Amino acid sequence: MGQSITFHKADQLKAKPDAGQLGFGKYFTDYMFEMDYSAEEGWHDPRIVPYGPISLDPAATIFHYGQEVFEGLKAYRTEDGRILLFRPDKNMERMNQSCARLNIPEIDEKFVIKAIKKLVAVEKDWIPSQSGQSLYIRPFIIGTDPALGVHPSNTYKLLIILSPVGSYFGNSIHPVKIYVEDEFVRAVKGGVGYAKTSGNYAASLKAQTKSEELGFDQVLWLDGVEHKYIEEVGSMNIFFKIEDEVWTPALNGSILPGVTRNSVIGLLKHWGITVKEKKISVRKLFKKAEKQKLLEVFGTGTAAVISPVGFLKWEDKVIKVGNGEIGELSQKLYDTLTGIQTGKSEDQLGWTQEVKIEKEEVKEKAVDKAEEKAEKKPAVTE
Ligand code: COI
Repeated sequence: MGQSITFHKADQLKAKPDAGQLGFGKYFTDYMFEMDYSAEEGWHDPRIVPYGPISLDPAATIFHYGQEVFEGLKAYRTEDGRILLFRPDKNMERMNQSCARLNIPEIDEKFVIKAIKKLVAVEKDWIPSQSGQSLYIRPFIIGTDPALGVHPSNTYKLLIILSPVGSYFGNSIHPVKIYVEDEFVRAVKGGVGYAKTSGNYAASLKAQTKSEELGFDQVLWLDGVEHKYIEEVGSMNIFFKIEDEVWTPALNGSILPGVTRNSVIGLLKHWGITVKEKKISVRKLFKKAEKQKLLEVFGTGTAAVISPVGFLKWEDKVIKVGNGEIGELSQKLYDTLTGIQTGKSEDQLGWTQEVKIEKEEVKEKAVDKAEEKAEKKPAVTE
């Protein structure tokens, strides 16, 4: 799709948030990327426009039938001032897998990576540089057809928004408390569990609220049929260090194939540690813990990076993992991954891609107000 990305200049830029108060996903940058799809034109009109509300028909498919997919990746500022993306190719590959499941037309992965790089280059001053901080990138696609029949949309919109973020779970890396949910389920095989789509998260909210009311940070999901086997945590995949092996639930169709999950498995294998992707029953896990064989538990995700788990509650049993402190392996994985992501450690596995800032690349095709009005863009208001 050799189309050029147009740039529509904002009249005014926002004040940047206080770097110490970022949290996760609370602030958004000055610009966003937008592109439309129709059967006649395919994906077309790629543009970088001022960040702001979009206008959709109230009957749009996304509002009624949830036809949506999304991704999450990050841009990092290195000490020597470069900008790195971590494995954007894996995110785009997964986005197309999600599109296939949600009956959304596939994207040109290379073109969307180009769009991400261009947007990040425009917003380079928004990339925070303190330890643990990054610019979170959220590409997503929504069905926009105004029609109430249950059919896939014929028209779509792809947007990319950016948010400067700190740690997902409050300040820096610290062990979180997880509640094993045995009433509600997130996904079943044959459903959309492996796709990154909003419905999976909508289905998780009730249990997430329940876990928070009980004093926990997140929910650990069990399989949707027998409620016996461990699947994933609210916003991350899950790993267990059992004696000298590391176990993680095998991808079975209802678990999200995390990019960080895949990277952690790669690193562990590279270090010669045995990783077993397998069916893990919660009963067996708690037995291992009783026998002092469960040494570390950690979650992995783009937002969460490596998040040590300090407590696990299932029925009336509570496990305190590693004295509620960060395990050695969790810390090593966190340091190695964030080291590669921020350019501090050598990227031996070729996982990072640099965002080059080239003057001509960000062609400032400033569209003045009169020209903008003359253009036919029914779905966009600013
Ligand atoms: C991510 O880790 O990027 C996610 O999308 C998880 C969550 C914030 C929804």
